[in-house]
Amino acid sequence: MNFALSDQLTKELEKIGMKEVYKPEIADLIIVNACSVRKHAEDKVFNRINILNSLKKKNKNLKIIVTGCFAQNQKEKIKADFVLGTYKISEIPKIITNGKEKYINTDFDQYKFLKPVRNRELPFQAYIDITVGCNNFCSYCIVPYLRGPQISRRSKEIIEDAKRLADEGVVELFLLGQNVNSYGKDNNEIGFAELLYKIHNIDGIKRIKFLTSHPKDFNDEIIDAVCNLEKVSKWFHLPIQSGSDRILKLMNRKYTVEHYLRIIEKIKSYKIDFAISTDFLVGFPSETEEDFLKTIEIAEKIKFDEAFMFKYSDRNYTASYSFENKISEEVKNERLKTLIEIQNRIEKENIKKHIGKERNILIEMISKRNSEQILGRDELNRTVILKNENLKIGNFYKAKIVDYKGITLIGELLV
Ligand code: 5AD
Ligand code: SF4
Repeated sequence: MNFALSDQLTKELEKIGMKEVYKPEIADLIIVNACSVRKHAEDKVFNRINILNSLKKKNKNLKIIVTGCFAQNQKEKIKADFVLGTYKISEIPKIITNGKEKYINTDFDQYKFLKPVRNRELPFQAYIDITVGCNNFCSYCIVPYLRGPQISRRSKEIIEDAKRLADEGVVELFLLGQNVNSYGKDNNEIGFAELLYKIHNIDGIKRIKFLTSHPKDFNDEIIDAVCNLEKVSKWFHLPIQSGSDRILKLMNRKYTVEHYLRIIEKIKSYKIDFAISTDFLVGFPSETEEDFLKTIEIAEKIKFDEAFMFKYSDRNYTASYSFENKISEEVKNERLKTLIEIQNRIEKENIKKHIGKERNILIEMISKRNSEQILGRDELNRTVILKNENLKIGNFYKAKIVDYKGITLIGELLV
């Protein structure tokens, strides 16, 4: 989401005559658009802002803007010329031209979606925010407090933008939201599955991906759409967080492990080649060794193709901030390490199942390490290396998976 926003902002700033540079040392304006989901991320951003401020000694014209969840959360603690809440991002061009010093506004008034643009680095791809905010209030999560309630963008506007992007040469769309599966529920719009069908009908669009899903809302209609619609990637990112029903309840996730397993069974019933990834959060307050073992059990059972693994950190505003029985850093670190080791092993084992499969690869870029190799992604969202035989970036090629290196697949072009 932050990548998407940064690209959109760049475009808006170009309209007022600004030009992107690639080194902070030569910039007259630096925008820090940062995340607050985990404490570790915030600590890093504070450090980065200090370093950026030191550039002012050499460049007296330098202005620094800090925005995003981080700004919404830390407000006055931030040292910058302008500090803007999440709802003020679209006003940045106006603020640059006539803003007053340290403009802090963190109200949730009218949200203005910026126009989606082509991805600067991969211009055949575009991100589209279909919702902002979140109504779920998972007990550990700060997002609903910093991004406000869920607002779905009008489907008519989304479709218009998708068509425009297709005309501009975009073939791959990435639909974004905190919980895209609840798209439309806040404003009587069409549902997420129907939105997928509509986007699928757009001629130039050849691949559709989305992030993030929520197991409580990932219903049969959505599974059906993903499995049946050819252009939708067969990649399911479904954050499970924990394998213990007791912890899931405390997290206010509103599903059980059994429900999650039913979703997987349903996907499997389509007999398609698919990949599944997840988020795990270990060391939630009161998590016992037994709860943690259930998380390991579920990791071993499902064998996720990829997992983002985090240790719990206390965030202000959240319900779990005041929960008792916090887990010590030492135990959290140990559990995270154990889970990462197990997951790494599983990913290495999983990779072998792709050998011999035929895939449709969208070429993304020439390998930075070896110009004779080109990198793309298949319909399961896995990175595939191909020999660089004049393949065009942004085009699709059929290939057979013949080998792997670490967790990257190696393919051979089919002619
Ligand atoms: N501590 C650690 N991880 C968190 N996440 C969200 N809030 C926290 C927190 N307080 C993780 C969840 C979520 C991912 C985006 O970040 O796993 O799915
Ligand atoms: Fe946070 Fe839960 Fe909303 Fe995701 S669904 S943004 S974890 S509150």
